[in-house]
Amino acid sequence: MPDGYNAPAASIVEEVLMGLSQPQKTLPAKFFYDAEGCRLFGKITRLPEYYVTRTEQALLQQVAPELPRMPGCALVEYGASDESKAMMLLDHIGASAYVPVDIADSALQDLTQRLHTARPSLSVHPVAADFLRPLALPHQTSSQQRFGFFPGSTIGNLDHATAHRFLVQVRETLGANARFLVGADLRKDSSILIPAYDDAQGVTAAFNLNLLSHLNREIGTDFELENFSHRAVWNDSEGRIEMHLVCAHRQTVSVGGTTIVFDGGETIHTENSYKHTVPQLRSMAERAGWRSEKVWTDPAELFSIHLLAADDVVN
Ligand code: AVJ
Repeated sequence: MPDGYNAPAASIVEEVLMGLSQPQKTLPAKFFYDAEGCRLFGKITRLPEYYVTRTEQALLQQVAPELPRMPGCALVEYGASDESKAMMLLDHIGASAYVPVDIADSALQDLTQRLHTARPSLSVHPVAADFLRPLALPHQTSSQQRFGFFPGSTIGNLDHATAHRFLVQVRETLGANARFLVGADLRKDSSILIPAYDDAQGVTAAFNLNLLSHLNREIGTDFELENFSHRAVWNDSEGRIEMHLVCAHRQTVSVGGTTIVFDGGETIHTENSYKHTVPQLRSMAERAGWRSEKVWTDPAELFSIHLLAADDVVN
């Protein structure tokens, strides 16, 4: 396997220091997903205000029987902490193998265990990796056609340049005749978006703050959680929801021996959730070399599912 494939990038300390040294401090969203972060995200998906998950699930019910059949293919899911959406597709596309790719190793292990019991005939090849880095698929799937799956509007977490690079890279990874099914939240009024990212029960706030506890546990930073609070803002010109952690008053935090100063009112930008229109996402995919084969939206136009095809698909 070439060097750098499926390998971690810079160390966590380096990545954190890099983000906290910018004029607008940032932390990478992937650090949300330790075991507690995965548990809190699961709670978010069931919140009344968070329409994303249940809307996508309902739409997938409709989409799955309309998907092209690719008998014996490998279903490759990017960001697969939970197999439930992939299981809705498996039989319709005729997949015989499932490759869940996720940064959260513990969630992957649980998922693999569950599937081993629930679907013993399915070959499951988990890959614990940051899917933004060059990805080597398990050698067991090398002769299979690939059907990629990127649900949950995770694509919204990527800025335009990163999304472009990701779409190009997925096309290369999935190979000839691949399909790629992408779930993307649609642009809509901020009166719906803001509560979805700042819920009444404070689950999203706890999810955001857990990023700091995760780093305290993982790399020994000394963030004091009571000094930070959750904020969700709609950035209209960028077309995205931003999550921030607002620092209550001036303080310092130690990161791997380096002292970082926080001013009162200063924020750490922890996540972007871009909301794309159908034409925006379609042209992004086409610029990355994909052909847009079909797009579905729910009746309330909250969410979209795009079927993309590699150009070499012969109908
Ligand atoms: C899983 C990244 C798609 O952006 O909607 C939910 C994460 N953050 N609430 C999203 C999230 C706050 C979610 N994604």
